[in-house]
Amino acid sequence: MKKILFAASEGNPFIKTGGLADVVGALPKYIDKSLYEISIIMPLYRCIPQKFREQMKKVTHFYENMPREQEYIGIYKMEESGITYYFIDNEYYFAGDAPYHHICEDVNKFAFFSRAVLAALPQLKFCPDVIHCHDWQTGLLPMLLKVFYGENKFYQNIKTVFTIHNQKFQGRWQIDDIENCRDIPAKYRYGAMEAYGESNFLKAGILYADQVTTVSETYAREIQTPEGGEGLDGVMREVSGKLCGIINGIDEKEYDAQTDKNIPYPFGTKNIAEKKKDKKALQKEMGLKQDAKACVIAIVSRLTQQKGFELVVSVMEELLQTEHVQVVVLGTGEERFQHDFSWFAQKYPSQMCANIGYSEDKAHRIYAGADMFLMPSQFEPCGLSQLISMRYGTVPIVRETGGLKDTVEPYNEIWQTGTGFGFRNYDAGEMLFIIRYALKIYQEQPKAWKAMMKRCMKHDSSWQTVTKKYEAIYEKITS
Ligand code: ADP
Ligand code: GLC
Repeated sequence: MKKILFAASEGNPFIKTGGLADVVGALPKYIDKSLYEISIIMPLYRCIPQKFREQMKKVTHFYENMPREQEYIGIYKMEESGITYYFIDNEYYFAGDAPYHHICEDVNKFAFFSRAVLAALPQLKFCPDVIHCHDWQTGLLPMLLKVFYGENKFYQNIKTVFTIHNQKFQGRWQIDDIENCRDIPAKYRYGAMEAYGESNFLKAGILYADQVTTVSETYAREIQTPEGGEGLDGVMREVSGKLCGIINGIDEKEYDAQTDKNIPYPFGTKNIAEKKKDKKALQKEMGLKQDAKACVIAIVSRLTQQKGFELVVSVMEELLQTEHVQVVVLGTGEERFQHDFSWFAQKYPSQMCANIGYSEDKAHRIYAGADMFLMPSQFEPCGLSQLISMRYGTVPIVRETGGLKDTVEPYNEIWQTGTGFGFRNYDAGEMLFIIRYALKIYQEQPKAWKAMMKRCMKHDSSWQTVTKKYEAIYEKITS
């Protein structure tokens, strides 16, 4: 039985800021337990809800020499559904109200975390075959394994996989200002760890991991180009032999329109007409006009530059001047988007509602009640929201980038195929054109639309198919 340890900065249900937590929370559940023993290790943030903290048991604590001082490392543990969760405790680093941008510099926090994970293994008498690291926060780990433990027998056979969920975030900082990296030999600090005169944790992970993956095939290609590489395209091309793209799945049980407890009227492909009742209920909840003819376009997202909302804002006026169009937004993020969406909502109250904040059950009701889901991302490594919307027969309109391109098949009027609509260039006019085209199909060809909704609901977003690809990687690097 091979042992796989996931190392990540967030994971459902303990702590989540975005799709990374969904993936870290779900993927291990679907890996074949007859072949692999799965554990997950993450920081014990004080902001992890008390109900989880109560279930954790302290395993041990020890002190480790680090540049700042002898650091305390506590290890907590809990088991659930055949998975062991470990948590690294240290109040100095993890006591903030949020996992990131709190208490101390993130680079220091996660340099500590990577070091603590490696130091904890012998204490736990646990030697994994593979450590599967996620994003820049664990980027140093594959390198530290070689730098600090290369000669140590205990660690010698451990292999690493590094999964990039977002190439934009790299863990960059002034090289000499990262306290927890000061004892790393200069050869590494100014070598593998360096990019453009700064320290770069992502780059270290990419260079030192035995296998690098990212979350869609298209994104794996995009990050090897100057346009999508976020400055690291040269590095990505250099490692292309050990790089591959594996699309994410979603928890199909959690997002199931037939059994979802958050939605008032459950439905499936056979009684898809019930969805209209969810739409009516959504219009009521959002304070919109109860207009059966209206097409409800939804946005559920972090409101950031990545997600392409500057395009949406720039055509919002035109869109809301269109008859029978309604827009529902749920999300938090950059002030400018929160402000702009709220402004349109107060100008067009019967047509638009902006929910600034985030609520999981409201998100479900929006996914279920809307007709279309808009996701015009500037770049999108994978994207989960378009997959979720499809599960509820809500047709996605996306920009054809990264995982959006790989998961949404454009509607073909002649062949009557496809699961959504896509536009290529990052251009508001192009986006509006495709929205108008989608609206035309929605209004004028209800049968074709209904068939598309059903195709969306049948789209395979299950983890079962995906995990086979990760299992093949674990086999490849450990044999
Ligand atoms: P990303 O991780 O880039 O935000 P994904 O589409 O991969 O995008 O994942 C989005 C996940 O985060 C989904 O589970 C979605 O429901 C959730 N989500 C969307 N908006 C917010 C928000 N404002 N706060 C917290 N979670 C959100
Ligand atoms: C990141 C990406 C998103 C992806 C998620 C999970 O947050 O922005 O596209 O779906 O990670 O891999």
